[in-house]
Amino acid sequence: MDAENQQQNATPAATADATEEASAGRAPVSRRAVIGWAGAGVALGAAGVGSVAAATRQDDDTPAAPAATADIPFFGDHQSGIATPVQDRLHFAAFDISSSATRDSLVRMLKEWTKAAAAMTGGREVGSGAASGLPEAPPDDTGEALGLPASRLTLTIGFGPSLFEKSAPDGQMVDRFGLKARRPEALIDLPKFKGDNLDPQRSGGDLCVQACADDPQVAVHAIRNLARIGMGTVNIRWSQLGFGKTSSTTPDAQTPRNMMGFKDGTHNIAGTDTAKLAEHVWAAPGEGPDWMTGGSYLVARRIRMHIETWDRTSLKEQEDVFGRTKGEGAAYGRTKEHDAPDLKAMPDDAHVRLAHPETNDGLMILRRGFSFTDGTDGLGRLDAGLFFLAYQRDTRKAFVPLQQRLAASDALNEYIQHVGSAHFACPAGVRKPGEWWGQALFG
Ligand code: HEM
Repeated sequence: MDAENQQQNATPAATADATEEASAGRAPVSRRAVIGWAGAGVALGAAGVGSVAAATRQDDDTPAAPAATADIPFFGDHQSGIATPVQDRLHFAAFDISSSATRDSLVRMLKEWTKAAAAMTGGREVGSGAASGLPEAPPDDTGEALGLPASRLTLTIGFGPSLFEKSAPDGQMVDRFGLKARRPEALIDLPKFKGDNLDPQRSGGDLCVQACADDPQVAVHAIRNLARIGMGTVNIRWSQLGFGKTSSTTPDAQTPRNMMGFKDGTHNIAGTDTAKLAEHVWAAPGEGPDWMTGGSYLVARRIRMHIETWDRTSLKEQEDVFGRTKGEGAAYGRTKEHDAPDLKAMPDDAHVRLAHPETNDGLMILRRGFSFTDGTDGLGRLDAGLFFLAYQRDTRKAFVPLQQRLAASDALNEYIQHVGSAHFACPAGVRKPGEWWGQALFG
């Protein structure tokens, strides 16, 4: 189902979800409706106030948020956050399941997560809300998104290889939740690639949730509330904040630029291209376990850029690295960004020449990465780069051969290093209220 169709499904699903919450004895609360401008200012503190002013004023003539900020439906055949037009901000979290958790407690948590995700993506508070539950109990919602719109929040869940089989301290592989037989063959342990310098603390994870939104506070709020619900069952293993999407799935919009200053996402799979999505992104019936049909495999790589070295590199060398011009983003030998590239006009080791489908038997991945800047390292260098996210139908036939080729000969390797890595199976979408994340896997 493409983004447009998902949009059309929004109203009944959202209504049904609200009804479900109401019948569970909770009044579904629209975050925007709960407080006026003064209240929002108090709840958010100085940091978030400016950006939410227009959205939270209830008592004047300020127009509502424009249509481009319409909520992204949570329910659908595919999970949102994959083919959905890329939002501006990311909070990505990988979780490990606690040693005391059981299959039952995990299922209970996934059901709670699903309800919370449906609420938050609809701009509603979790459970009985941030300020209207029992005074004696901690509130169900942490509250920092009160007064903010949903900001096109999407929440996408994935299951890592270690959910199915985890290596115990004695080296034995343990099937903790009786899921080993349900592990998709495509959910491989990624091989080590040339040049990898992976930090185990920033790699792997039993589960992941990708939160994307146009407002960082909304994305952070979503992960924080899921982590809160999961307390005792899961712990955050690592997480990554991202900004300035580096890949576009909307070819008609202006292509964003990455931290190296180049347009990134020029030749990507468009979120509306149902044929390409079917061919390259969605797992097809019969080629893996049923629970993955309509899902997609996600590879996450934290790629550090040697920014200081890059910034001392000539424009010519920078352009040679990609085989595209820095200003327009045109392929070498062409004039416009979207002109079909002439790969032979590029240096042999240019990134685009090596990554283009023509060089790779037609393979394509859907790139959905974000830039990151996490302060500086101990040597005063920016800890910045690309948090690369790629969705595909089968990682063994997409990311793996592509990265093998790039790791071997990409001119870009001089300026980057892969420092984190994870692989997840993201199941099909939750189709209607009452269903839950992972139901087909655990059911
Ligand atoms: C920091 C690391 C990276 C940077 C800065 C980067 C940057 C870029 C840029 C500027 C382009 C050209 C514009 C475009 O078509 O999007 C591009 C294209 C592309 N990149 Fe990367 N990239 C990085 C890592 C990777 C990795 C790890 C992969 C896959 C394993 C990859 C796969 C691709 C693909 C498939 C294309 C499109 C090529 C085409 O069809 O013309 N990139 N990248």
